[in-house]
Amino acid sequence: MAAMMEAPLDTTQMDDEEQLEEMEEEEAGAAFFHVTELENHGISRQDTQKLAAGGFCTVQSVAYATIKKLCEVKGISDTKAQKLREISYKLVPSTFVTAAEELQQRQQMIMLSTGSKELDKLLEGGIETGSLTELYGEFRTGKTQLCHTLCVTAQLPLDQGGGEGKAMYIDTEGTFRPQRLQSIAERYGVSPEMVLENVVYARAHNSEQQCELLKQACALMSEDRFSLLIVDSATALYRTDYMGRGELSERQMQLAQFLRQLTRMSAEFGIAVVLTNQVVANPDGMSFAKDATKPIGGNIIAHASHTRLQLKKARGENRVCKVIDSPSIAESEASFSVSGVGVADAVE
Ligand SMILES: Nc1ncnc2c1ncn2[C@@H]1O[C@H](COP(=O)(O)OP(=O)(O)OP(=O)(O)O)[C@@H](O)[C@H]1O
Ligand SMILES: [Mg+2]
Repeated sequence: MAAMMEAPLDTTQMDDEEQLEEMEEEEAGAAFFHVTELENHGISRQDTQKLAAGGFCTVQSVAYATIKKLCEVKGISDTKAQKLREISYKLVPSTFVTAAEELQQRQQMIMLSTGSKELDKLLEGGIETGSLTELYGEFRTGKTQLCHTLCVTAQLPLDQGGGEGKAMYIDTEGTFRPQRLQSIAERYGVSPEMVLENVVYARAHNSEQQCELLKQACALMSEDRFSLLIVDSATALYRTDYMGRGELSERQMQLAQFLRQLTRMSAEFGIAVVLTNQVVANPDGMSFAKDATKPIGGNIIAHASHTRLQLKKARGENRVCKVIDSPSIAESEASFSVSGVGVADAVE
């Protein structure tokens, strides 16, 4: 793959050999089968189109779905769902591997640099691809700034802490600023125009739209190499769409579905999923004067996030990131700063 993701290629300028090379490179890099692959195994074009319209754009997504979910796709019967499962299991087998093999896989895991050396070190390289990372903290703690920085580092070459992929940004608060990406791109010495071309952005205005956008997201990801999906904020709209105690369980159920879909996408496309979350006053914490705030969303979000990071204000531009929960990192902290060029090393 090229060191930087190119803007869509003008193929009319390329000869056949060049095109073939591009295609082969793309095939080698793809970690998933496009859903049209099922057409080579006895599934009709109409059915793969129905699946894609229902958000199932890869064979992996079909293999990972329950029969019930497949049947929810318009025009897919129970018998058809069984057949789809049988074929997709053959193409994407789920088998046991040894821990040694798993270790080897994990060592090749791509991590996205946060822009701060100390923070990358704390996170053993950066934000992990293939899983969900939650950033929570009070306002102005740098959640959105970190999201912007990641949109640029996600595109950098692997040896520069990048993911060599495009970035996708779902904005629920209207705080996405492309100009910020330009300044961050300049810091890394990459073309601001190219960086902007490689970030796709959507604004969600309600929680249903936020969830619906993931179908389009899957379609785009099955066509192009992405390394990052940002949802800033993942919880704000659920909080305003479902008010009061009476709607709490419905809210949690819908939020859980959204998060489950994100988890599926992180595995399917090998992308880093980063979600931000706000905090509310914590009445339990007050009495111990330990932590006066807690992240919203309760257990549902706590369990869905593989890595939970708490951001806190420090002196001036500096911020502190604390690892609250991680499968491999002990509870610990690192400092960074938010500056004109995004997240950077802490200033003295
Ligand atoms: N261009 C810039 N140069 C320097 N600092 C900036 C710049 N843009 C934003 N900041 C700083 O970033 C901080 C805001 O961070 P950010 O927007 O990431 O907060 P947040 O955690 O997302 O808050 P919220 O919960 O309100 O969404 C502010 O302190 C602001 O001073
Ligand atoms: Mg923000």
